[in-house]
Amino acid sequence: MGLMGFLDRLADVDSFDAAMEPARKAVAAVPVVVKDLLHGTWLGHPLHPVLVQVPVGSWVSAGILDAIPSMRPAATLLIGTGVAAAVPAAASGAADWSEQGVGVRRLGVVHAAANTTALALYAGSLVARAKGRGTLGRVLAYAGLGVAGGSAAIGGHMSYAQSSGASHAATAARALTSDWIDLGPLDDLPEGRPALRTGAGSGAAVPLAVVRRGGRVDVFVGACSHLSGPLHEGRVEEVRGQECLVCPWHDSAFDLASGEPRRGPAANAQEKLEVRMESGRVMARLPSRNR
Ligand code: FES
Repeated sequence: MGLMGFLDRLADVDSFDAAMEPARKAVAAVPVVVKDLLHGTWLGHPLHPVLVQVPVGSWVSAGILDAIPSMRPAATLLIGTGVAAAVPAAASGAADWSEQGVGVRRLGVVHAAANTTALALYAGSLVARAKGRGTLGRVLAYAGLGVAGGSAAIGGHMSYAQSSGASHAATAARALTSDWIDLGPLDDLPEGRPALRTGAGSGAAVPLAVVRRGGRVDVFVGACSHLSGPLHEGRVEEVRGQECLVCPWHDSAFDLASGEPRRGPAANAQEKLEVRMESGRVMARLPSRNR
């Protein structure tokens, strides 16, 4: 079995689910405004993969500089930079982790434990260097780099194989036809709440969430960008001054006008379709970026 197969097996192990629940609840209790900052909702992009560039880049660079005796003071500076930058990166990861499915959370615990070990090794390296024990400092730093590399592989598996952080709406949109889709008469749509309509897909109907407000209609891919929650079962609500479509699963709010996230845990925008009226019927199609 390869490493990735092993990680998949690990994600099936439920022995520690009860033990990790208090940590999940503790993160979930953090105020929404703070969590949204950490999710990257304000950025329209997950923040964790942005923040991790700093410790990873600093530590990899330090590993190179440590191999050159005259550059070791610079390596120490980079290790310190990485240790400091690991704290906000871990906070953003914890915020995302708390709102993921259980399989992702299981691997997330292993990822966090490995990162904590790497952080401790680098902190030990700094202490050793400060005491003049340069050889020990380098050994600890290279050990930290190895553990951090393994942890990065786990994080990558969570992103690419388990789709944590990916836009589930973009994936669903790819199944839609690029032609105009007839969503039926405007007058059949309820006022001010989402309704389910289906779009022609490649072999299967694709759910769409349609919101009518007077003569205006906004049409979104029905699977929430966060974890595919059914947006047509959600509600319309004003969030941070904007009329939003709110997901029924974790309360992410998407601006009706643009699809941009106004409240997390979603950090990706919701895919929105172009709309036009034709003889009293609502027609919608994917914007060209999705085709
Ligand atoms: S599925 Fe999580 S907010 Fe929609």
